[in-house]
Amino acid sequence: MMRPEVQGTLQARSAPPDALGRVLSDLRISVIDRCNFRCPYCMPEEAYPADHAFQRARERLGFEEIERIARAFVSLGVRKLRLTGGEPLLRRDLPDLVARLAAIEGVEDLALTSNGALLPKFARPLREAGLRRVTLSMDSVDPDIFRRMSGGRGELADAEAAIAAAERAGFGPLKINCVVMRGVNDDGILDLVARFRGSGHVVRFIEYMDVGTVNRWRDDRVVPGAELVQRIDARWPLEAMPRDRMSTSRRWRFRDGAGELGFINSVTEPFCGGCTRARLSADGKLYTCLFAHAGHDLRALLRAGESDAALRATVAGIWSHRGDRYSERRAELRAAGVLEHVEMYRIGG
Ligand code: GTP
Ligand code: 5AD
Ligand code: SF4
Ligand code: SF4
Repeated sequence: MMRPEVQGTLQARSAPPDALGRVLSDLRISVIDRCNFRCPYCMPEEAYPADHAFQRARERLGFEEIERIARAFVSLGVRKLRLTGGEPLLRRDLPDLVARLAAIEGVEDLALTSNGALLPKFARPLREAGLRRVTLSMDSVDPDIFRRMSGGRGELADAEAAIAAAERAGFGPLKINCVVMRGVNDDGILDLVARFRGSGHVVRFIEYMDVGTVNRWRDDRVVPGAELVQRIDARWPLEAMPRDRMSTSRRWRFRDGAGELGFINSVTEPFCGGCTRARLSADGKLYTCLFAHAGHDLRALLRAGESDAALRATVAGIWSHRGDRYSERRAELRAAGVLEHVEMYRIGG
């Protein structure tokens, strides 16, 4: 029997599980809702005219506010922080935020998801500030298709330069995300695999998802991860690696030892059962699902002068009521007309 006071201390270190028994262990922090790319699956150019109203600087959380919120989450059991955007490297002085977060006791993993265009400038300062891992996007190794997948804003050569800069700064091995859209970039996946086989970096193919409201998602544009595995296996034989229930990706390795691949099959093989992730938007809203239509306003609490204890209790309460499992209910919810989702670039994927 545990003494009640000891039990109390232990309990205080984590949030109660959510309504489906899932613990809170990751916080993904979006630092800006702007992006220098216009990927068709996220921020299609036609949906964002030049005068589109992105968040203003004063609407965004300041670094002190982000740190306070992060500390509250860490006190509730979060061990893994990931910085996202939009494009997080567009946020001024990002290494300063990294240094603040890296100093929080209890943070075991601190990562960044970026399109890489600005990484050569920031890789070293970010590393020195305490960033541990970097995930970069590369949707194609064909320069024309790469450009098209970035909405005409990105260049393959710059994505390669980002990878080189990340390697030099000591971030390897990297994760390389590729969103696959049928008829757009799926013909090029073997070339992408060839580029990274033997490099130590792990390519992860992500099924095109119905996030946000503007990407005109259609299910016939989704290439099931299982189909990609088949195509790749026919060329370079693969074997499945053990499944980690908490992970978003299914892992496969090359039988010849040239490394591994990941498949994030959120549409055809949802993984809500192991979803331990919370998301914070740059303006301080807490989202408990990538497909939520609204968030909980933590900025209002901070700016009303609430205490850390009140913040912590609010977050614990929100988490304990969480019942999200959109990907598992996609067909039913879409049929019922539930199509209002927060835009991906506000919560960073
Ligand atoms: P690790 O920290 O290395 O495990 O990375 P991760 O699995 O968190 O991967 P990353 O942050 O790169 O996420 C990859 C992509 O998977 C995201 O950009 C999203 O597109 C998708 N994804 C991540 N988390 C979720 C989730 O909770 N639900 C859904 N549906 N998709 C997700
Ligand atoms: N479907 C799948 N992945 C997406 N991402 C953005 N929008 C989508 C979508 N509609 C991914 C990007 C990047 C991360 C930030 O989110 O590829 O890896
Ligand atoms: Fe920008 Fe990433 Fe969205 Fe592409 S997926 S538009 S790089 S935020
Ligand atoms: Fe988590 Fe929502 Fe994604 Fe399911 S759909 S894994 S609940 S973020």
